[in-house]
Amino acid sequence: MASSYAVCRLHMGGRGSLGKCLQRLDTCLHRSIGTNVVAAQADSTRRDDSDEKDGPKSLYVVQAERQEQAERSVLISCPSKTNEKKFLKHLSTHGDIKKHFFYESYGMYAVVEFSSQESVASLLEGATIPIDSHESLVPFKSRLLSLRNLGSVGSSNQQPEQQRNPQTTPPINELIQRLSREESIDHQITHLTESYQLTEENSRLRFLVCSLLKDITAAYFPECTIKPFGSSVNGFGKLGCDLDMFLDLDGISGRNLPKSGLSLEYQMKRANSERAVTQSILSVIGECVDRFGPGCVGVQKILNARCPLVRFAHQPSGFQCDLTANNRVAMKSTELLYLYGELDPRVRCLVFTIRCWARTHGLTSSIPGAWITNFSLTVMVLFFLQRRSPPIIPTLDQLRELAGPADKSMIEGNDCTFVSDFSKIPLHSNTATLEQLLCEFFDFYATFAFSKMSINIRKGKEQNKPEVTPLHIQNPFETSLNVSKNVNSSQLDRFVALCQESSWILQQSENNTPRRHSGGNTPAPWGLVQLLMPLQVAGVKSRKKKRREAASERIKSLLESLKNKNQQ
Ligand code: GTP
Ligand code: MG
Repeated sequence: MASSYAVCRLHMGGRGSLGKCLQRLDTCLHRSIGTNVVAAQADSTRRDDSDEKDGPKSLYVVQAERQEQAERSVLISCPSKTNEKKFLKHLSTHGDIKKHFFYESYGMYAVVEFSSQESVASLLEGATIPIDSHESLVPFKSRLLSLRNLGSVGSSNQQPEQQRNPQTTPPINELIQRLSREESIDHQITHLTESYQLTEENSRLRFLVCSLLKDITAAYFPECTIKPFGSSVNGFGKLGCDLDMFLDLDGISGRNLPKSGLSLEYQMKRANSERAVTQSILSVIGECVDRFGPGCVGVQKILNARCPLVRFAHQPSGFQCDLTANNRVAMKSTELLYLYGELDPRVRCLVFTIRCWARTHGLTSSIPGAWITNFSLTVMVLFFLQRRSPPIIPTLDQLRELAGPADKSMIEGNDCTFVSDFSKIPLHSNTATLEQLLCEFFDFYATFAFSKMSINIRKGKEQNKPEVTPLHIQNPFETSLNVSKNVNSSQLDRFVALCQESSWILQQSENNTPRRHSGGNTPAPWGLVQLLMPLQVAGVKSRKKKRREAASERIKSLLESLKNKNQQ
């Protein structure tokens, strides 16, 4: 046993080696709350069997469950043809295995969840630190292991290959073909959401990486936790999205205890600002991750950013990670986005579609710049859904009014209170289809008064812009801030032009029914697919011109008819 697993090798200098599977969208959602009866007949994304009984779980509950699950899990690097049956038999000598899966990321890996943490301890006890006579190794004992000295557990050519879980989205060409075969735009949208959203396994892996990182940070801060936030947990994450993490020191015991004779000495290490404390914590943790973090490479400490962070790549999972500390407002925005996504299944579908559309046309990018961010884009979709008649989702102020005493939350002087109990939220009966909403979204922003108005999901109404910037989207919690401050006017113009173009495409009857290539049975791109195909900026311009021409033609004929009337 001891020879089979090795604690992942560390080289000095830091170099080293939510739901059921895909969420199903095939059921109808019927919600009935208070006096407002809702029959939002839309396809629903189902996260977990238990959701059906008790309604959606709050993000807080989901996080706690996932964290506990991750603590009982290990990550094992395996040879590519590991005999799954023997592998499991071998591991189960340490205890019951609840779940396991294989995936590929620079090699083959297995995530194994045991029923109890004792099994993990037993496995680690039996794991050896590899001996390498040429290099100095840091003997850091982590839950990232590698399977060696294979013996009977190792490969056998006669064994069927184990099923490997996909951790990336399907290639766009393949997706385009699959979407073209769908029968309606609504089906295309749900298909796209299914293909892109995080799988159950990918979510587990994200929590496991946080848990592995916590093992390092806990050396400095016992009882700390590392929580994922942003798209990894807000319900809008696409396979391959970055992993935003938050080092949470608020749960450390002793903070809210009544005064006693003893106080912890380390709390007396003072710095002149909270930002300085955050910077020094992240500096030390960054150093530690760089030198001792198994699988963590390319560590950068970006401490002078508005929100200081440590960025690195976690090679075994393939995740690009951003670790922050003292970032509780972002955690609240994550909770809010999660809540909106759970309220109505159309929210998630529309956000996925718009994010995908924006990425295809280069409106968003993984490189920071003057582009619209995914976060801003999501807020724009939420605002649009609040502006439907009747509204599909409530405003943040309405959610605040429904909050109970336990929901009260003030962070750095900002009121971040909103209701957490889903059953208290009344919804209106709006039965618009996804196709209608998509078309209306493009129309809405094609004609939005960006030059004068600000987008405000707290009020659910556009407000006069408080400052001169091309795009103003009020930060939902830090209300004096604009989340899209970085966006320049040429990026906003491209967004508006693409909204106009996309609205025009969807309104052409030949584009919104399935089509076949002439003389063949192969489906031709139609509906949503046409919106995801590259549109040349020139094409956008020419369409704009066409529209303008069409409008001037209309005005001309109107004038003609008025003239004729007068003459009569
Ligand atoms: P992707 O990573 O692009 O998939 O989306 P994301 O939602 O995770 O965005 P990102 O990684 O840029 O940011 C992570 C989280 O930080 C977001 O979900 C928000 O909660 C928060 N956030 C991002 N940008 C802003 C901003 O401009 N202002 C504020 N207050 N919070 C932000
Ligand atoms: Mg992110």
